[in-house]
Order: sequence, then structure tokens, then C-alpha cells
Amino acid sequence: MCGIVGYIGKRKAYPILIKGLHRLEYRGYDSAGVALINEQGQLNVYKAKGKVAELEAFCESKDTGGTIGIAHTRWATHGEPNTVNAHPHYSESERLAIIHNGIIENYAVLKAGLMEQGYTFKSDTDTEVLVQLVEYTQVNQHVDLKTAVQLALQQVIGAYAIAILDKTHPDTLIAARKGSPLVVGIGENEYFLASDATPIVEYTDQVIYIEDEEVVSLRIGEKVDITTINNVAKTPEIKRLELSLSQLEKGGYPHFMLKEIFEQPRTLTDSMRGRVNVRQDNIALSGFIDNKDRFLNAKRIIITACGTSWHAGLIAMYAIEEFAQIPVEVEYSSEFRYRKPVINKDDVVIAISQSGETADTLAAIQLAKEKGAFIFSICNVVGASIPRVSDSGCYTHVGPEIGVASTKAFTAQVVALTMLALCIGREKGTMSKEQYLRVVRELGQIPDKIERVLGQNKRISDFAKTFTYAQNFIYLGRGYNFPVAMEGALKLKEISYIHAEGYPAAEMKHGPIALISQEMPVVVVAPHCGTYEKVVSNIQEIKARKGRVIAVVTEGDELVSKIADYCIEVPATEECLTPLLTVIPLQLLAYHIAVVKGCDVDQPRNLAKSVTVE
Ligand code: G6P
Repeated sequence: MCGIVGYIGKRKAYPILIKGLHRLEYRGYDSAGVALINEQGQLNVYKAKGKVAELEAFCESKDTGGTIGIAHTRWATHGEPNTVNAHPHYSESERLAIIHNGIIENYAVLKAGLMEQGYTFKSDTDTEVLVQLVEYTQVNQHVDLKTAVQLALQQVIGAYAIAILDKTHPDTLIAARKGSPLVVGIGENEYFLASDATPIVEYTDQVIYIEDEEVVSLRIGEKVDITTINNVAKTPEIKRLELSLSQLEKGGYPHFMLKEIFEQPRTLTDSMRGRVNVRQDNIALSGFIDNKDRFLNAKRIIITACGTSWHAGLIAMYAIEEFAQIPVEVEYSSEFRYRKPVINKDDVVIAISQSGETADTLAAIQLAKEKGAFIFSICNVVGASIPRVSDSGCYTHVGPEIGVASTKAFTAQVVALTMLALCIGREKGTMSKEQYLRVVRELGQIPDKIERVLGQNKRISDFAKTFTYAQNFIYLGRGYNFPVAMEGALKLKEISYIHAEGYPAAEMKHGPIALISQEMPVVVVAPHCGTYEKVVSNIQEIKARKGRVIAVVTEGDELVSKIADYCIEVPATEECLTPLLTVIPLQLLAYHIAVVKGCDVDQPRNLAKSVTVE
């Protein structure tokens, strides 16, 4: 996590850096800092605990002059979130300043070596070790900054995206990456640097994505210079950004999360554009078409992901097994990569990641790739690390998701995975043409049906107020809607800090039923599906114990509406597509409860959107 931004050029760097940090705040927000070389050649470093706004307030009375600078917003790994541990960090002589996103795993060994040489450390961070190592290398080996960075990075085990300033060279900005993302923006006689393109988009659409173990040197009046850490020259590949500024703004909504929930009819239309052809009754997924045999010959599909993306993976398990009759395993990336998994050459591994940067998911597919499995990824951020190391994949195309709690990315992942399941099932002949056509046609109706669910926003917002007293929630669902129950519970936990558990409805009697009382709200996802009657019985069991039931049901439901305390109706659809509708009220419920509780919806405490550490 952490966001880094840098600027070198003719404009005042500070406002560009601060604006950039605001854009990157989704990556972490427990402290922030900026380093600037002013016109007098002084290297000023300012830091503040808390969000970027605290840093801005702190800098009001400071000298923020200079046309070169770096800035950082932090999600703490080593050392508590305070001003000392905030980045940038100075080197011993205070000649260099560094910002870093990632983890230096062997920092303790490196630190001990530097301490023996008389270096002192002010912070508890791994990052300070790196800047000291660079300075030590520069001084002792009499090399320039770029070479010192290369040599230092050769000794580093871990992940990094770094940027370094040297006050004796105010015309040069050096940066490097391994495992953490880094993008360079090319303006006219100016360069930008950031963890993603969002701080860059308003200045230029020309970007270079820096690759692992590359070091980039940005000098005014010179072309971008890229070498590996072993000093092999690389040819920069300039790409055009497909991102607009309006996508990064709230567009009249009070929070990004609400905007993103309401965007879903459009984002799903975008995800399906050119892929779902309702008129011709077919689905064309190029990532599948080009690699058909790998899917058709797969003995097993392993899905790996984290957080909300893992829930999308669980839904896909139901769809792939139903349509394609291939056994599916859904794995938390963090567990998968460390448990010596059995991976065969004829396995297909599907990685799901909104950001495309999640460290555990990236490591999981690297492991699977080494074992010869075919890697297919479903990501949102174009050009991110996970799609780049995958053999094939499918972008979800929902635009930037800025709210830390994932909403529109989730529904698009479910759509992408459903399209894939349909492609495999149809091609294998394991699903009937009738069923295939029904689902394809119904997919085309989903955006309009979501629009209808969103029409109940006001009602959900009204009754959400009733539940802000709760300390705990249970969410229940079955089949395709069991993962929806887990996703609903996760949304509530993430943004309202209310403890919530998602359970398969039938499992309730094996434990959670003991928790049911008048105080306990139970959200039951109960659309008309194969197990509907069984879920209705579960609701009776909850009511018999005086629990308060909020039910998500199909329009026209007569049974549940009589017994539940609150009912939210969703339009009828194919069973495999119900998650796309039933999750919407749960996103809205979590959102409104968090708003009434006064929580920071878009940037909930302790969380970050892009988890680039293990
Ligand atoms: C973090 C985010 C979640 C996200 C998860 C996986 O925990 O807060 O919203 O689901 O990471 O992220 P990915 O980018 O891989 O989908």
C-alpha cells in the first residue's frame, strides 16, 4: 500500500504533489509527507500524522517552494503511524530524501551493517535503511546517485516503489520499482511520477509503466533513462492513458462509494460491451477464445483472490461447476501461496483482483505459473502487475474505483466470471443451448434491473437508521447467495465498524443461532431460488427467537414479506445472476448505516484499497 508521487519540471511542485496525494489517499492514509528542493538548494521535508489534509495544514506556514519534489501517503507496516515514521526519510547527512511503497524484508540485516559503520536511525521503518544504504554506497564507492540506487537495490530483498531526491542534484529525480507499481508521466519539459496514473492524468496522457527491477532517471531537458538494477539499458515504452478526470471526481455524490454503487448499471454495460451480444445470442470473450483449449482441457480450475474479489470467486465456483462441470477450488491467495499447493500443468488458475496489484494474489499466480498452470486474470486496473504476468485475462472496465470498500468492481467481476463460465459451458457442451440463451439474454437485462433496485435507496436509507445501535449483524444466504451474504457482512464491517458474519443459512443452527435475540439484526438474502423454502424456514427460526429480519426477496414475494421486519425487493432473474441484484441493497444498507454513524465511508480506518504488502 502507500501512495507515492513525484514531480520535476518548471512549475511549483508542492500543489501538484498535494493534489496527487489526495488522489492516492485510497492507498493508505495514516500519515503523509513531502520533500522539496527549494530555489536555494535546501531539501525541506515536512510530515504529519493522519490524512493529507493534516499535512496541508502543517505546511501552510512552511517554505513550500521548489520545482522538484516527492510526496507520500502511508499505510503503516514497520513502525506505528506517527510523524517520525512518516515518509520522506532523510539519509544520515540529510542530503538525500526517499519515499517508498513496499517492504524491505532484509532491513534488519542491512540496518545492523550500517549501524556498525556509524549510521544512526531516527525511525522504526525499513525505508530509512534503504536511504542510508544508498548514501553509504554513494560515499564509499564514489558513484553517482543512480548507480548507488542500483547497487543498493541489488542488496534488497522485498518489494519497493521508491523515489529519491539528492539536494546536490536538484535537476534529477531517481525512482525504481519491484513488486509495487510505478508510473512515469511525460509532460513538456516536466515529468511526473506516481503509484498509479490518477495524479498524472490532468497534466499528460503520455505514460511509461516502469517494470520490476527497473531504475528510472528523470532529468530536465533529457529523455527518460531506464536501466535495470544491473545497469542493462531498457527502451522506454510510452503508452497513452485511457482515463478521464471526471472519472476521478464525485460528480455530485457525497461519497465516492455512493457514486460507485449508483454507477453499476453503466459500469456493467461497459463490462459487457462488445462481449455480450444479446441480439446474436452469444458471448465473445477474446481471452477465452484465444486460449480455448486450455479451458476445455482443464481438469480443475483454481480461483485465487482476496477480500471482495474472493467473494466474486466463490460465486464463480457455483457458475463454472453448474455450466462447465469442471471442479473449482476457491482459495485465499495468502493461504494458497504458502500451503505447498498441488498445481498441475493442466490446471487453469483464475486470479481476481480489482487493483491488479494485491501482493498475495500476485505471488499466488507467480507460484502457479512456475508449476506450468495457465493463468487467467480478471482485473480492473489496466496494465497492473497481475494482468501483466498472466497468460490471458479479461478487464472489467469499470473505471477507477476510489471508495475503499469495493462495490462496482465486485459486480463487474461477477459478470466477467459468469461470461467465462458461459463460454466454457457452451463450448464444452455441458450446458444446454436453451439455458445458455436464457442467461445471455438475461445478462443484458441486468443493468436495468439494478436501476430498479437503486430506486429503493431512500427506503433503505430510512430504515438503516434503525440499525445503527447494533454491535453485531448476521448475514445469511444459500447457494449463489451465500457469497453475497459474506460480501454484505464484509461491506458493513469495513465501513461501519459493526461486527458482522456471513453464513450459509443452513449452518445457522450449528452455532450462530445461539446469538439470536431481540438485539440481533439478521440480513437474509432470500430471492426465489432452488433453496427458497429452506431459507424461509430459517427466517421462521430467527423470528421464533425474536431476531430482527431484514430480507432481500424477489419482487412479489408473499411468504417472507409477511414474517420479515423489513423487505427489500429485487427483480426476478436467472438464479446464477441473482447476486448481481441482491448485493445492491446490502451495499446501500452498509453505506447508510456508516453515514448515520458518522464513519469515514470512503476511507475507513486501518484499511487500504490496494494491499501491496503480505
Ligand atoms: C483490500 C480492499 C478490498 C479488496 C481486497 C482485494 O482489502 O480494501 O476492497 O477486495 O483488498 O483487492 P484486489 O485489488 O485484489 O481486488
